[in-house]
Amino acid sequence: MRQFSADYLRDTRRGMWDDREALADLELDSRERVLDVGCGTGELSRVLAEETSGEVIGADADRDLLAVAREQADIETVASDALRLPFPDDCFDLVVCQALLINLPDPAAAVREFRRVSSDLVAAVEPDNGGVSVESTVESEDGLAARARRAYLRGVETDVTLGGKGTRGAFREAGLSDVTTRQHYHSRTVEPPYAERDLRSARRKASGEGLADDRATLLAGDLSVAEYDDLRSDWREMGREVVEQMSAGEYRRAEVVPFYVTVGSV
Ligand SMILES: C[S@@+](CC[C@H](N)C(=O)[O-])C[C@H]1O[C@@H](n2cnc3c(N)ncnc32)[C@H](O)[C@@H]1O
Repeated sequence: MRQFSADYLRDTRRGMWDDREALADLELDSRERVLDVGCGTGELSRVLAEETSGEVIGADADRDLLAVAREQADIETVASDALRLPFPDDCFDLVVCQALLINLPDPAAAVREFRRVSSDLVAAVEPDNGGVSVESTVESEDGLAARARRAYLRGVETDVTLGGKGTRGAFREAGLSDVTTRQHYHSRTVEPPYAERDLRSARRKASGEGLADDRATLLAGDLSVAEYDDLRSDWREMGREVVEQMSAGEYRRAEVVPFYVTVGSV
């Protein structure tokens, strides 16, 4: 199972649900009992708890992330595998996940389990990581990000481009009906004054650490070791330029991740 740090989840979800229109089909104002599967640090659970007067429970296989979710989102949590939820049939009126299915080898099996414990709706908020776009004041950054992303997508074992189309397929396979999908673009910008997380991320680019974390996945595709070393060297040079521009207060970066909110009825 892929591991995620609490810092990574907080940083990447920052501002994601400032605009909640794409969650309309979850009918949150009428929900009584909601389960957020693969809740991590509870970034979505907190939004669910704000939008419904009902109870929200978070489930995840990672106990450390659940401890953060309890504190941060103020919800009840359960340590559990998404494919074997420790609940009887029909005991929630909404079962939802965010960025979980892209991490599972068999997304439809998880959706079937969500369907079992839901009496009404199942929903999934999943990105298409093949459709991420980056614009940066460092000229080489968007091209390098695309090069690294292509290599990652070829090496990763699960479908991280699942988005709306793949999720709808999993919902149909699981026997859900009235399936709807809404797009939700999550934009993240880096600009002065820089937050500590932005400075940390720039240092990781300059040292090549960030890319090195994904070395095994990058090499599992068709990237050779020499091509990986070449990519890492270009990446570090780009990172040094990011650090320089930041020192001068001139660095700006915008990233857009397309997410898809899919909802089906049991
Ligand atoms: C990308 S994170 C998303 C976390 C959170 N939903 C969010 O959007 O910030 C994926 C989460 O799924 C959890 N996870 C992965 N495989 C799981 C499984 N088989 N059962 C339960 N949780 C799982 C991970 O521990 C992690 O917290």
